[in-house]
Amino acid sequence: MSEIHRKTGVILALDVTKKEEALLISKEVAGFVDAIKIGYPLVLGTGLSIAKDLSKIAPVIADFKVADIPNTDRLICEHVFSAGCDAVIVQGFTGSDSLMECVKTANEFQRKVFVVAEMSHPGGDYFFTDAVSKEIAALAKKAGAFGIVAPATRPERVKELRAVIGKDLKIISPGVGAQGGSAADTIKAGADWVIVGRSIYGAKDPKAEAEKIKKEIEKLI
Ligand code: C5P
Repeated sequence: MSEIHRKTGVILALDVTKKEEALLISKEVAGFVDAIKIGYPLVLGTGLSIAKDLSKIAPVIADFKVADIPNTDRLICEHVFSAGCDAVIVQGFTGSDSLMECVKTANEFQRKVFVVAEMSHPGGDYFFTDAVSKEIAALAKKAGAFGIVAPATRPERVKELRAVIGKDLKIISPGVGAQGGSAADTIKAGADWVIVGRSIYGAKDPKAEAEKIKKEIEKLI
């Protein structure tokens, strides 16, 4: 288990599906990212044991967008944390009991929960309207989550959600690069980390791309 500390401001979204590729890219970019986010593509492709391998390189965030009844959520989170993940991403729309069960389980394992406040793709604000996103963010704060997920593709929403949660919770923001978001604008809007997938792992030189984003963020400090 390792803590997620902000050094670079970058989280790698590792949506490749082969173990060798996942390990190779992670080792290459290790000094330029603060955590590695894994999700269904990689875990379905390689098995959950990939989490332990990657946790030797950087803290691992399991993006399973957990969204079930409290008992099932607990069972999922227990597996995720036992597998070596340092944090899990869950949905907040399931309501406070489900969310609180995830946070309770994370606390038992001394791990962290991030709650999706809004998706980053074009259709992402269809159901996650401004009011709903804010309500979910407020619920995440009330439940004791470590942070929320907010869209880098809509920096203005990052800013508004930061105002809702204050300084206590972290914001991680996907949507930089391939989805059109800018790392600098997202951090300026109040995110702690940008999450970057395809622009890093799909680049000819993933290390150079990760370093470029790290430097873009450094310039703001
Ligand atoms: O390749 P790209 O940089 O677009 O990857 C973004 C990552 O963040 C993907 O793993 C995607 O599933 C995830 N994500 C997102 N929007 C959210 C939550 C997660 O794009 N709101």
